[in-house]
Amino acid sequence: MDTKQRSAFSSKIGFVLAAASSAVGLGNLWRFPYLAAKYGGGIFLLTYVILAVTFGFALLLAEIAIGRKTRQSSIGAFRKLGQKSNICGILGMIIPMIITPYYCTIGGWVTKYFAVFLTGQNMEAANDGFFSSYISTTAQPILWMAVFLGITAVVVFLGVDKGIEKASVILMPVLLALIVIIAVYVVTRPDAAAGLLYYLKPDVSRLSGKMILGALGQLFYSLSIAMGIMVTYGSYMKKEDNLETSVFQIEFFDSFVAILAGMIIVPSVYIFSGGDESMLNAGPGLMFITLPKVFDAFPGGRIIGLMFFALTLFAALTSSISLLEAVVSNVMDRTGWRRTKTTVVMTVYCMIIGTVCSLGYGAFSSFKIFGMSILDLLDFVSNSILMPVLALLTCIFVGYIIKPQAVIEEVEQNNVTFHLKKFFYVLIRYLCPIGILAILVSSILSSMGAMTI
Ligand code: PFF
Repeated sequence: MDTKQRSAFSSKIGFVLAAASSAVGLGNLWRFPYLAAKYGGGIFLLTYVILAVTFGFALLLAEIAIGRKTRQSSIGAFRKLGQKSNICGILGMIIPMIITPYYCTIGGWVTKYFAVFLTGQNMEAANDGFFSSYISTTAQPILWMAVFLGITAVVVFLGVDKGIEKASVILMPVLLALIVIIAVYVVTRPDAAAGLLYYLKPDVSRLSGKMILGALGQLFYSLSIAMGIMVTYGSYMKKEDNLETSVFQIEFFDSFVAILAGMIIVPSVYIFSGGDESMLNAGPGLMFITLPKVFDAFPGGRIIGLMFFALTLFAALTSSISLLEAVVSNVMDRTGWRRTKTTVVMTVYCMIIGTVCSLGYGAFSSFKIFGMSILDLLDFVSNSILMPVLALLTCIFVGYIIKPQAVIEEVEQNNVTFHLKKFFYVLIRYLCPIGILAILVSSILSSMGAMTI
């Protein structure tokens, strides 16, 4: 695609909201709260925030700068910067291609739960076995996934400013309002104090290498780092917008939503279970099995549940929009196809793979690879292997091949001052590669059963 014709976000706030709404997703609402509970509450929060303003800052800034500098999505961007093998560019296309279909399968489950609360069937959702029997049926989960994917596709089809930016500018403030209202409701419940204390009190004795690696892995997941998205969004950012402050604003939104989500989920499950910590370690089941029971026990629980699943739906939608956009944008840049054709082709692809993922819990449930369902396998390959590999290669590429100065120059466009220039240099060359290598080794070891993260 000709660089002159490239689409762009219309304003700095439009870019920040679009990038933040990509970052704010299921990772914040489902993954962060149970990791915080698992790793000792306050100390995990503190570690997370420190990592966000260091590691998160450097990687997010580098990816957005690469996109803005080259005006290309990942494949074109790394090639333009002279990476001969183009391994980073290709991974930046493959990773969202793996994630988007299964993210839409989960998005379909969220859409179903939203509909359940909307139509007043929430008591049924609180029953044991509702979730597992629902996902093992054939037609319904595929249908709800198609609804979720359909909305995602329409927004991507409408383009960068009229689709993605508009959706983010509308949905992000609604999402923020909903999460604040629900958090206020939960923390003002009669027995919330003990749960809140459990969530917020930093227990220094829980500080461990495993916890720090868990927080770092969550940070990459949550910020949509190393999946080609931020390079693509950076390519739509205007040269006159300040990159450094934008990065801090995106991180602020992402951490704010994650911390408030924990403030909703941890105390409410804590109250409901009478302080039973094991209930907080339920993983995916926490959102789909435990929470409907918790909401059912609250006065006005249907409304709170409806608000919660609306919030989760908006967060998941804006993230899947960014995932599909990363794929569509790469294909458009490479083939010269129009947005319309590319969106249709990639939506059909997502529908096919998403259907296979969905059937992995029903008709294909006896089909396992390394003991994992298809969805779990795609999640493992992308999140535990390919994303740390891409993050590491990006650090090496920026730190040692094109050199940090290339990114620094991009930040300093239009005589903007880059306040944390030296800090960025040290992070991208030394600290980030070491931290990412540790994540990669630990996730390989844990997959071999040697340790669990
Ligand atoms: N950052 C988003 C989230 O927290 O849900 C989007 C995302 C992250 C999608 C990781 C997929 C993924 F594997």
